[in-house]
Amino acid sequence: MFEDLKKQVGLIIQEHQHNSEVAMTAICEVLQSSVDYYDWVGFYFKNGDKRELKLGPYVGEPTDHTVIPFGKGICGQVAESNQNFVVPDVAAQDNYIACSISVKSEIVVPLFKNGENIGQIDIDSETPDPFSEQDERFLEWVNQQVAQIL
Ligand code: SME
Repeated sequence: MFEDLKKQVGLIIQEHQHNSEVAMTAICEVLQSSVDYYDWVGFYFKNGDKRELKLGPYVGEPTDHTVIPFGKGICGQVAESNQNFVVPDVAAQDNYIACSISVKSEIVVPLFKNGENIGQIDIDSETPDPFSEQDERFLEWVNQQVAQIL
């Protein structure tokens, strides 16, 4: 599944290399529609010089959390840790920002440009504990592709 998705993401990057917003929206759409446990797929980016994240392109239910301070929630923690954060059960997390009660699990993978953590891809799932290392490797790869056109 991920090999086929990589081809599709590669084509999107090629086609929209001069419009990263369009490319990221198309990537969110293809990921969300292809992986049954990817229910909300979006990108957050550092908001200028502020220590906060701002919501970028996404697909799924609209969220109230369009700005997230560094350190808050899973996303805010990844902004500081520079590490992937896989949450098999969101109910077991103290520092978690709930977007919808139907969400059971989440994965956040940082996006690096020239070695700097400038954003992240965030995926919410309504399936408990669905994410494996394959998701991590795939989403790292997606972020590397996106970084090339930012
Ligand atoms: N759950 C995230 C907030 C963003 S929403 O999932 C879209 C968090 O705890 O950081």
